[in-house]
Amino acid sequence: MPEAAARAHVRYIRPVVEKALATSHCSLATIDYIAVTVGPGLLPSLMVGVEFAKALSFATGKPIIPVNHMAGHLYSPFGRISSKLSSSSSFKHLFPMVSLIVSGGHTILVLMKDIKNYKVLGQTIDDAAGEAFDKVAKMLNLPYPGGPEVSRLADDGNPKVINFPRPMINHKNYNFSFSGLKTAVLYYLRDHSKQATPTSPPPSRGRNKERESKADVCASFQQAVVDVLVAKTLRAAREYKARSISLSGGVAANEALRKQLIVNCKLLKVKFFVPPKNLCTDNAEMIGLTACFMLHNGFKPVSFKKIKANPNLSL
Ligand code: KG4
Ligand code: ZN
Repeated sequence: MPEAAARAHVRYIRPVVEKALATSHCSLATIDYIAVTVGPGLLPSLMVGVEFAKALSFATGKPIIPVNHMAGHLYSPFGRISSKLSSSSSFKHLFPMVSLIVSGGHTILVLMKDIKNYKVLGQTIDDAAGEAFDKVAKMLNLPYPGGPEVSRLADDGNPKVINFPRPMINHKNYNFSFSGLKTAVLYYLRDHSKQATPTSPPPSRGRNKERESKADVCASFQQAVVDVLVAKTLRAAREYKARSISLSGGVAANEALRKQLIVNCKLLKVKFFVPPKNLCTDNAEMIGLTACFMLHNGFKPVSFKKIKANPNLSL
């Protein structure tokens, strides 16, 4: 509900900014720049942030740095690599880097040649990985956002019980597709609904059995997603002789995905970077951090008059 989301943004943006300043012991006077997400995303919500930033810029005279939301995810793992933002040479030894961005709206594989030169190797041709998690959660009557819920249930399940498809895992390109996998889960649940929810068992055993089979569906689905993401990322790392791999976006909080990449990076002898779990899902730190990288790499801040929200902004 984009309108409701935008109204919530209007209600919260000022108290959130005030709280952020207070908890970091800053005031508007000590701030040098105003970084704001300009896209991609839902236009009404983007506009609230952008117009608020413009008003702040007009009132304080502080210049604006417009940040691409996906660049925010891309740079988010760098927050833990080094606090030396001033020279890009301090990161030289990490490149080439293969970066996997997995969020609710995007699944993108990126090749970073250095800190500011990167190209998209591939992306999803239909649903994003996070979107597939959310939709499968909905099928299982789990609350939104579904990713953390599915992942929690998957911990109690067996990933080998159901052999869900691994779409495009052997394709030579770096694109992804998760819509077919989502449909496979839907058909599985339709065909096994009687087994999953027996009609007249003793109530407590019935609930346990239902939870067990839900857990197996979650574990098997999650494993299918993780297998595809990891296989393509590793193949890109081998092809481009990457020195490191990074993982970001909301789905990067998924423990199974993090673990499988950590193990494989060790085998491949490449470094692995991922933000802490609470900074994988959307947050302001990654936008501020990206703005710092932009500034230190030659970006010139712009007047508020030139800033506009762009829902379709690409990486
Ligand atoms: O990056 P993000 O916060 O927002 C977008 O830019 O889309 O990603 C949100 C997505 C949601 O689809 C959510 O279900 C998923 O990240 N997510 C997870 C986990 N935590 C969040 N997916 C799988 N496992 C998780 N632990
Ligand atoms: Zn995001």
